[in-house]
Amino acid sequence: MKKPPLGILISGHGSNLQAIIDAIETGFLSAKIACVVSNKKEAYGLKRAEKHRIPTHVIRHQDYPSREAFEKALIQVFDPYKIELVILAGFMRVLTPQFIRHYPHRIMNIHPALLPSFPGVEAIQQAYDYGVKVTGVTVHLIDEGTDTGPIILQTTVPLKPDDTLESLTERVHAVEHKLYPQAIQLFAEERLEIQGRKVLIKDS
Ligand code: GAR
Repeated sequence: MKKPPLGILISGHGSNLQAIIDAIETGFLSAKIACVVSNKKEAYGLKRAEKHRIPTHVIRHQDYPSREAFEKALIQVFDPYKIELVILAGFMRVLTPQFIRHYPHRIMNIHPALLPSFPGVEAIQQAYDYGVKVTGVTVHLIDEGTDTGPIILQTTVPLKPDDTLESLTERVHAVEHKLYPQAIQLFAEERLEIQGRKVLIKDS
C-alpha cells in the first residue's frame, strides 16, 4: 500500500504526534512522516520526532510580519517533501484561506470535543464546566472556519460523576491517540470521499 507523506504541525507536547509515530511503527498506519514543523522552538514534540529521526523545523510565527508570510514559510518547508496530507497535532495557530486553499481537503485536525460543540481553545474544560454528560473527540478536515470543517470520525467519551478535569482530560487524550491514526489510515487507503459537508467512508 502507498504511504502518503505527512507534514505534521505542532505547537507543544506532541502526544498525538507520538501516537501517529507509534501507529506507523507498529504497522497499524501506512504513512510516512516526512517532517514535523513547530511554531515554538521549546515544543516537546520536536524531541519526540528527533528521537525517531524524523526531520524537524522550527518556524516561529513571531519572526514573520503577517500570518500569510508565516504560512508561506510553512509551505516552502513542506513543498520539497511533497506533502500529501497536513496533520494538525495540537497546532495552536489559525490558518488563513491562502494556506487552506494550497492543500484542499488535505489538512486534518483533531479536536478534543464533539464538534460543533465547544470549538476553539480549552475544549475539554469548556465541556467539563458546561456540565455535559458526554463529550468526545472529533477528527475533521480544515475549512475556512474555526473547527467547522467536514467531520471524518467522532467518538464519545462519557463523563463519570466523580470526574475531575484532569481525569476527563486523560480519557479524552487516550481516545484521541486511537482516533487520529484511524482517520489518517482511512486517508492512506483512499477511502475518504468528500461530498459537501459530509465525508463518506468507502467500504465501511
Ligand atoms: C490535543 O488535545 C488536541 O486535540 C488539542 O490540543 C491538544 C494537543 O496535545 N487541539 C485543539 O484543541 C485544537 N483546537 P498534544 O500536543 O499532546 O498532541
